[in-house]
Amino acid sequence: MNPFLSLARPSISHLPVYLPGKPIEEVAREYSLNPDAIIKLASNENPMGSSPKAIEAIKQCASHTHMYPENSCYLLKQRLAETLGVAFEQIVVSAGSNELYYLMCSLYVQPGIEVVMAKGAFITYRIATLLAGGTPVEVPLCNDTHDLEAMFSAITDRTRLVFLPCPNNPTGTINGNDEILSFAQRLPSHVILVIDEAYVEYRENGPDFRPLINSGVKVVVTRTFSKIYGLAGLRVGYGFMPQQLAELIDRARPPFNVSIPAQQAALAALEDTDWVRMCRDINREGYRQLTDAFESLKLNYIPSEGNFVMVRVPKAMQLYDFLQRQGVIVRPVSNYGYPDHLRVTIGSKTQNARLIELLSEGLICAV
Ligand SMILES: Cc1ncc(COP(=O)(O)O)c(C=O)c1O
Repeated sequence: MNPFLSLARPSISHLPVYLPGKPIEEVAREYSLNPDAIIKLASNENPMGSSPKAIEAIKQCASHTHMYPENSCYLLKQRLAETLGVAFEQIVVSAGSNELYYLMCSLYVQPGIEVVMAKGAFITYRIATLLAGGTPVEVPLCNDTHDLEAMFSAITDRTRLVFLPCPNNPTGTINGNDEILSFAQRLPSHVILVIDEAYVEYRENGPDFRPLINSGVKVVVTRTFSKIYGLAGLRVGYGFMPQQLAELIDRARPPFNVSIPAQQAALAALEDTDWVRMCRDINREGYRQLTDAFESLKLNYIPSEGNFVMVRVPKAMQLYDFLQRQGVIVRPVSNYGYPDHLRVTIGSKTQNARLIELLSEGLICAV
C-alpha cells in the first residue's frame, strides 16, 4: 500500500493514468533500434515539424530565458484577439489546452458535481474531473460520434461542465455545425460547455461560437499550438470565452504558466499562415493516401476530421507490437473502448508509405 495514497484526497485512488504515445527513445531502447529510423505516428504530432519562423523565434529568445516570462502573455493575446475577432479580455493562454480542462475543473468541480462527457472522448476530461473530486457522467458514443441528445438528457441540477471535442480524439468524428450550436443554446444556465477544438485548423467551416459567446451563452472554446502549429513540446494553448470567465480562470492559473519560448514561438507560428496551409494540404493528401490503402487492404476505418485515423484491424495488439518492432509506433485504443482498432497519426508521404508497407506485411502474419 502506498503510504502517500491514504493521506491523499479519496478521488485520487480512482484516477486513471494518461497513456501517452510511446516515445521514440523508449522504443529504440526496448528493441535496439536506431532512433533516427523510428517513425512515431502515435501522438497526433505534426510530421512537418514546426514552422521555421517559430524555430527562429525560439533561437532569438534563448538568451532571455533567465527572466520570467510576461505573465499576461500580452503580445500573443493581442495577436490572437485580432486573428479571432474577439476581445483581448476574452482570451486565456495556457500550458497546452490540457491545462484549461484542469483549470475549468478546479474552478467548477468538487464532490457532488457532475461533468457530462462521452465514453470514448479524449480521456483528459475524465482525469481532470476525477482529480477535482467530481463525477464523470459518461454517455456512450453513437456511430462513433457524440450523441448530443443523450448528453443533453444526462444533464442534471448537479452538472456544471459539459465537454465536447470537435473533432473527437481518438475517433476523429464530429457533429454537424447546426446540431452543435443548437445544443449549446439549449443548455441550462448552470452549465458551461467546453468545446475542444484542438484540431480545428485541419477543417474548413467549423461552427462559429463567437456570436453565442457574445450573446451570453456559457461556452469556452479551447485550441492548441500542439497540432497543426507543431509546438507540442513547448506546451501552449489558449481559449476564448466570455470575459467574466476569462477573469476567473486567470485567477486560478499558475503564475508564468507559459514560457518565453512558448509565447514567442506561438506568435511566430500564428503569423506563418502559408506554412499552416501547407501542413493542412499535406494532411489532406496523407489522409487520402492512408484511407485508399486501408480500402485496398479491405480494412474499415472511421472517417476522420483530424490528423489521425482509426482503422479496424485483426489482432490489434499483435499488429501494434509488430509495427513497433519494425520501428513504427501507432496507438492502441482499447482504453477508449476500441480493442479492435489502432489510431494512426497521418504522417508525411514517406512515413505513411512505410506504415502501409508494414501493415500489409503484418496483416499476413496476423490473420
Ligand atoms: C482532443 C484533444 N484535445 C486536447 C489535446 C491536448 O492538447 P495540448 O497539447 O494543447 O494540451 C489533445 C492532444 O492530443 C487532443 O487530442
